[in-house]
Amino acid sequence: MGKDGPGRPAEVGTSLNEEKASLRRAVFYGRRQARKLPAIAHDLLAGLLPRVRATVPPDLTDFDSWELEIGFGGGEHLAARAAAHRDVGFLGAEPFLNGVSMLLQAIDRESLTNVRIWPEDARLLLDALPDASMSRIYLLFPDPWPKRRHEKRRFLQTEMLDVFARVLKSGGELRFASDHPDLMDWMLARADAHAAFTGGLVEAEAIGTRYERKNLARHPARYAAYRRF
Ligand SMILES: C[S@@+](CC[C@H](N)C(=O)[O-])C[C@H]1O[C@@H](n2cnc3c(N)ncnc32)[C@H](O)[C@@H]1O
Repeated sequence: MGKDGPGRPAEVGTSLNEEKASLRRAVFYGRRQARKLPAIAHDLLAGLLPRVRATVPPDLTDFDSWELEIGFGGGEHLAARAAAHRDVGFLGAEPFLNGVSMLLQAIDRESLTNVRIWPEDARLLLDALPDASMSRIYLLFPDPWPKRRHEKRRFLQTEMLDVFARVLKSGGELRFASDHPDLMDWMLARADAHAAFTGGLVEAEAIGTRYERKNLARHPARYAAYRRF
């Protein structure tokens, strides 16, 4: 947990407790906020976020096809995909408010009308998604939690693959990537063993997230794609 703890700043709104009431509790171990948010971030979190904020359950009526990105960081990948596929809806889950404000800036700059943000733990959103509602799920460079005693905190567990299998359409795709060799092997082993998925490593072009750019020189990333049967 970061020094700011798991609490949520007041500027994000107050309806979440009601939204969470019927959902199972999930513990989020990451940071909510790093440095002081700049003024533009405060403005966007107060003005734009309420307009593009995903509800639980989310309203999926605006688009026929939806993709979900879990832990979008600064939102570079999500914004680029949303700009390139304006007829597809994109759900992004990220509790780190500095990252949320970066995606809000991209939404504003690129006039993206097909992005909905869930500024909270992705598991709460996943629980609320209808069966067979997503065409793709992205989990890009998730936190590695390298210590053995923290492995249960890794996002992609067998139980999470069960959830992905439920919310993905038949023929839908799970894409994940990591530059952490042990975590990538862990995720590949679990996806390979899961009866609902088939796939493996793919040659992927760099996807352009900040985390990928920062780390690529030191640790080559690997990319995987699994199709839901
Ligand atoms: C190592 S960063 C990678 C960010 C981004 N995908 C990239 O490639 O730049 C992992 C991200 O996952 C987010 N995260 C961790 N646990 C999460 C959860 N339960 N739900 C949603 N996001 C989560 C963190 O806040 C962090 O931004």
